[in-house]
This record gives sequence, C-alpha cells and structure tokens, in this order.
Amino acid sequence: MELRSAFNEWGRFTEGRFVDQQWLLAKWEVCEGVVWPAEKIDVMIDLITKRLDTGLNDRLVDLGCGGGWMLKRLAPECGYAVGLDFSAQMIGNALKIDAGDVLLQGEIGRLPFKDNSFDRALCYFVLINMMEDSDVERSIIDMMRILKPGGSLLIGQLPDKAKSKEYDAAKAQYREFCSQTYGLGADLRDVNRMPQKLFDIPALVSFLEKNDIHFTKMPSFNPFYRAGESSTVEWRLDFLLRK
Ligand SMILES: C[S@@+](CC[C@H](N)C(=O)[O-])C[C@H]1O[C@@H](n2cnc3c(N)ncnc32)[C@H](O)[C@@H]1O
Repeated sequence: MELRSAFNEWGRFTEGRFVDQQWLLAKWEVCEGVVWPAEKIDVMIDLITKRLDTGLNDRLVDLGCGGGWMLKRLAPECGYAVGLDFSAQMIGNALKIDAGDVLLQGEIGRLPFKDNSFDRALCYFVLINMMEDSDVERSIIDMMRILKPGGSLLIGQLPDKAKSKEYDAAKAQYREFCSQTYGLGADLRDVNRMPQKLFDIPALVSFLEKNDIHFTKMPSFNPFYRAGESSTVEWRLDFLLRK
C-alpha cells in the first residue's frame, strides 16, 4: 500500500481518539489499540521541548504532524505554530483538535514555504517511514531550506542499523508487557504494516558533513518507556540540525 494511503487509513482509525490527550501511537510500533500512558507522553514532550528550545516569539513548524497532538502540546511554547502532513485525513484530525495556528496538507521534499521562514522545525517519527536514503536526504535539504539562519530542526527517532538487535529485543519485551498489562492477545501485531527504515548512521553523518550541516546526535526518547526505565535509548537517535 502506498505510504500516504496507509496513513490516511491510520488517521481514520485514530480519529477522535485523541480527546483525552492519551495516544494510540503504539499501534504502528507493536500492537493495536494500546493507549500510551499520559506519563509517557509527558516524558517525550519534555525531551522534545528541551531539545527544540523554542522561544515565545518563534515560528515553529511540525513536519509530518500526523493528528497534531504534539503540535498542540508545543504550540503554547512558541509565537506561531504550523502543522503539515501529506495525509488529508491526518490534517483533518489535527484540525478537529485545533492543533496549531495553521494546518495544511503538503509534502516534505516539496514544502510549500519560502526559504528562511521558520525558527524551529520538528520532524518526529517521520523519516523512519521513508525507505530510500535519497528520499531522506532530499527531505533534509528541503527542511533546512525553510529554516531561518540560526534556526534548528529536530529530526526524531531514527533507528540505528548497527543496534537493530537491541531494537528487536525491546519490541519483543514491549509486546509481552502489552499482552500482560492490557490483556491484548489477538490484537497483537506480528509485523508492522508501516514500512520502517533502519538507518546507516555513519552514512547519514557523512551526508550532513558533506552538505555543511551542523548537527548534534542524541539518544532518542524510549518509545517503550515505562516508569522507572531510562527515558532514552541508544538504538534510536535524534539529530538536532542547525542552520
Ligand atoms: C508515524 S506518523 C508520526 C506523526 C507525528 N509526527 C507523531 O509523532 O505523532 C508519520 C506521519 O508523517 C506523515 N508523512 C510521511 N511522509 C511524509 C512526507 N513526505 N510529507 C509529509 N508528511 C509525511 C504521515 O502521513 C504521518 O502522519
């Protein structure tokens, strides 16, 4: 299935389920219908907020904003909040929760913004679904283009190919946890229907260096986070790119 259609379908599944501010993201991670505990969401948003370091007058854009729940949480931290996604259904969902000042359908790689338009940009859990290095690289160049000089872009959750065994082990452990905690059985997914890319991190780093893009590499928020566990993991990485 084409990626955009898959996200339209996922958008239909999650429509209206964001009202209580708890989220079903784990569906595309491991299983169907697991509500992420609010605490986990708070840990993730805190980390993103700290890394983006948005000022109250800044213009922020969430690229691949999905149903807009992150943008809704980040919008009070900035002056102007824009969300963009290529799925019409997702943008419809984001509009329903009034996620930002502007919400529009558009594609990373052909962003409908002028050069140097934003102080901060977020692209979280998005590049993971682009299977080709060339698409990832084209997307990065386009996202950097719309940043103002001095601006920064946080690219979140890139699974490190070199550590894929740890990632698989964490998934298996989380699946077990979901099964025991939420009583899920038949709903558990064996395979993820959304394509997910493992990143060749040295290749990505050399692409950034070749293009003179300054960056900091950091461990990502642990998507399987449970209270008492480390809030970050080394088997996925975030990159903060600066212009
Ligand atoms: C896994 S979801 C993540 C959504 C949101 N960032 C979050 O963390 O909840 C990935 C989103 O990226 C969108 N997407 C994927 N490729 C895109 C592209 N090239 N341009 C715009 N949106 C894209 C999908 O429609 C989907 O809503």
